[in-house]
Formats: sequence, structure tokens, C-alpha cells
Amino acid sequence: MSKRVLTTESGAPVADNQNSATAGVGGPLLLQDQHLLEKLARFNRERIPERVVHARGSGAYGYFEVTDDVTDYTYADFLNSVGKRTEVFLRFSTVADNLGGADAVRDPRGFALKFYTEEGNYDLVGNNTPVFFIKDPLKFPDFIHSQKRDPFTGKQEPENVWDFWAHAPEATHQITWLMGDRGIPASYRHMNGYGSHTYQWTNEQGEAFFVKYHFKTNQGVRSLSAEQGAELAGKDANSHQTDLLQAIERGVNPSWTVHVQLMPAADAADYRFNPFDLTKVWPHKDYPLQRVGRLVLDRNPENVFAEVEQAAFSPNNFVPGIGPSPDKMLQGRLFAYADAHRYRLGVNHTQLAVNAPKAVADGANNYGRDGVMAANAYARSRKNYEPNSFDGPVETGRPLAAPLAVNGHTGTHEAPAHTKDDDFFQAGELYRLMSEDEKGRLVANIAGGLSQVSRDDIVEKNLAHFHAADADYGKRVEDAVRALRED
Ligand code: HEM
Repeated sequence: MSKRVLTTESGAPVADNQNSATAGVGGPLLLQDQHLLEKLARFNRERIPERVVHARGSGAYGYFEVTDDVTDYTYADFLNSVGKRTEVFLRFSTVADNLGGADAVRDPRGFALKFYTEEGNYDLVGNNTPVFFIKDPLKFPDFIHSQKRDPFTGKQEPENVWDFWAHAPEATHQITWLMGDRGIPASYRHMNGYGSHTYQWTNEQGEAFFVKYHFKTNQGVRSLSAEQGAELAGKDANSHQTDLLQAIERGVNPSWTVHVQLMPAADAADYRFNPFDLTKVWPHKDYPLQRVGRLVLDRNPENVFAEVEQAAFSPNNFVPGIGPSPDKMLQGRLFAYADAHRYRLGVNHTQLAVNAPKAVADGANNYGRDGVMAANAYARSRKNYEPNSFDGPVETGRPLAAPLAVNGHTGTHEAPAHTKDDDFFQAGELYRLMSEDEKGRLVANIAGGLSQVSRDDIVEKNLAHFHAADADYGKRVEDAVRALRED
């Protein structure tokens, strides 16, 4: 078979890819050497801005299959019959470090899922943790600054991490989770995923339910100790990427059983915890898990840059029958992601293959036009305004989700506290659930970081949070921190 001819970007044949053109033998380069100039210039433009968080990640395609009837709770098309399959793309990630970090570190993991449904793409952008550190999006940039590299030292600093947490008592629950045994997953296959936030489902009758998603790994939860994690991260920075890629290449397709917790909308106001507070879970005894389906990953992307680096997930990509709750964090995220994509990938990022909806054969059926790299085949010569008299696409008139009840006055309000709401109760509950051994490792992990903080007042504020969660928890962390600081 004859080999393909090497071409320039404009498709013309390249005569020599080993020697650039010079003025005479041994002379300087010629400006007319289009191939050299184009090659160097193109190379300079290979990188795009990395994600401001979750920069490091791995992705795979697969499908979601409905195993249980949930049509009493939502009219979402992709959930409307048992056995129905929907293609998905899932990107896993670490949160805090830059692209050049390592996989096997103590950090939450992203679990970002795109369902290519017949009614548009539904993005569920979650983590491997059911809760989060903060409950107001206004704090997110400060929180992330404290976790990422310090402006002076250029590396992550326990001082900054714990200083932020000293001022964020609501983080105590998530800190207890992160510093516990699940803080360093053995691989992306061996961890659960959570939607974390409360979302809203609406059924055919217009009734609303609040919903939380749980993806339980069928590979079993497996984690690394602090020592194992440090060793693996040092030996193979790409351990999770390699594991996922190789498992799928071998046909060992990872899967998750998908469950939901459902709360009738009328329960929300009087529930003992604020159901829209992302630092809290709904105990399963209050709202048991109900199985919905199965998620399977069975295909690796062919090109990591095109499909993983350019993947764009946004919590505001809902489909009819699913909508947001009033969770302030979620509401903040409804803005932040598409904004990030417009900066990082451009306004036409939804036209890239990994992000393009499959519900519409030839591109979004709307009146958005032009912009950098516009390539929406649907647009062509069609009218670019609405309403029009030329059979352009029209609205359905059907609300996408039930309306949310609101009351009161505008203002910078704290989220309402419910009867059992405080920053520490659920952190204490989580601690008390742990085995004696796990408690020991949790305390050692916390003390390892907190003891490195130089300022006593920062240490004391953090200790007070663990004392408030559970007397034994507080005492053990305090003893361990004091012992390490006296060394
Ligand atoms: C108000 C709070 C938050 C803000 C403002 C925020 C903002 C962002 C931004 C700007 C990105 C980068 C997007 C990109 O460039 O592609 C991102 C990525 C991500 N965030 Fe958040 N985030 C918040 C909270 C959360 C929470 C609570 C979760 C999980 C429950 C989460 C999960 C993720 C994941 C999984 C990614 C990576 C998505 C991917 O794989 O491309 N974030 N976030």
C-alpha cells in the first residue's frame, strides 16, 4: 500500500521534513520556508488554558441503562423505560493540583458525567464525595486559592489549607471524609460517585421531588493509605489514568450501580437538615437509596486532548424533567462552568465532537450564530432571528421542571437553619461510624497536615472544630497535633 503524502496545514505536499530551507549550503534560514514556519508556529499554539480546578483528569465513554422504573418521579426521556440505554462520557479528575500533578494524592475526585440523551445533553458534574467544603459559591475562589499553589512558594501549603478551614467550620464534615480512608482512591474504578447537590425531578403530573444521585462502584471501594499513596504518586504520576485505560483496553469494563434518594418537595421545609446545604447528607434511614440504573464504561477516547482536555461539562445542562434545587452552591455553578468553557475553549465549544448534542443531527437548532470557529451545520443559510416566517425552530411552551417556591426579601442572607443544622453534627456522626483503626488513620492524617501550620491561632481554631464534632475526635486530634509540634 502506498504511503500517504505528508502535507502542510493547507493540504499541499511537503517535499522535505528533515532539512529546513537555507540561503545556500550552511547559510541562514529563508522566510519563504512555509513548512518550517507553519510547523513552529503551530507547535507554539498547542496548549490551551488548563481548567482552573480539576485540571488533571481521565475520561471514557460508555452507557447508562435504566434498570428500575422511576417514571412516577420524573418525565426525563432517557429515564422513561426499563432497559433504555443512553451513551455517556465520564471524566474523572483530581481537584487541587495543576496538570502536572500526580493521580494518587489525597484530594476529592471529580465524577463528571455527560448523558447524550435524545432530548439534549444532560451533565451531572459530581465528585466522589457526597458533601463539599463550603455552602456558598462566594467562598469558592478563596477556598480554591488556599488549596492550590501558594503565590510565593509555588507549591501547595498546609498553612493555607488549614487557615482557610479555620475560618470555615462548615468544612469539618468534608475534612473528616477527605482525611479518612476514602481520601485516596486506589483508582478511578474503585470509588463511588455522587451528584452531591440536591437536584429536582418533575413527573408527568407536574409534581416535584428533590433528588440526590449515588453511583456505587461495582469494583468495590478500594483506597490507599497515606504511605501507599505517596509511594505510588512518586513512582507513577499517571497511575489512575493507566489503570482506567488498561482496564477498558482489556475489556474489564468498570461499572457503577446508580441509586437516587427522593424527597417529595413538600418535605423540604421541615426536614431536620437543610436539604439544600451541600455540607450535609440525607441519612439513608430518612430517605433510602432507590436503584435506578447501571453505568458502564467500555470505550477509551482515541485522542486525549480532543476528547478529555476539551470536554466541557456544565451543571446547567439539564433535560426536561430535571432541574436545579435552590442550593446556593449549585446555583453558583450554573453560571461558572459555561463561563469557564467560553474562556478556555471558546463560545463554540458545544460544536466539538465530545460536547456536541446527539439529539440534533446537524448542530444546535437555535439562532446563536458565528463566533470563533463557528461550524454549526444547521445554521447554514437559515434565518438567524426568531420568531420568523420561514419554519425556523420554535419553543415548546412546556416548563422544563416544576417551579421552585420562594419567599422573603432580596439580600445577602445566610442559608436557613433547620432543626438539626449545625456545622459539626454530621462530621461527628461520620467519625462515630468509623472503626477504631480508621479513626486512628484519620487522626494521623489530620495531625500530619495541621501540625505543619506555623501559627498557634490557626491550629487552635481547627482543633475547636474537631472538639465540636465529637469529644473523643477532638481530644485525639489535639493530642496528636501537640505531640508532633513538640517534636
Ligand atoms: C460554587 C462552587 C463551585 C464552582 C464555582 C466551581 C467551578 C468550577 C470550574 C470553573 C471548573 C472548571 C471547568 C472547566 O474549565 O472545564 C470546575 C470543574 C469541576 N468541578 Fe467545580 N466548582 C464548584 C463546586 C463544585 C462541586 C460542589 C463539585 C462536585 C459536587 C464540583 C465538581 C467539578 C468537577 C467534577 C469538575 C471537572 C469537570 C471536568 O471533568 O471537566 N465542583 N468547577
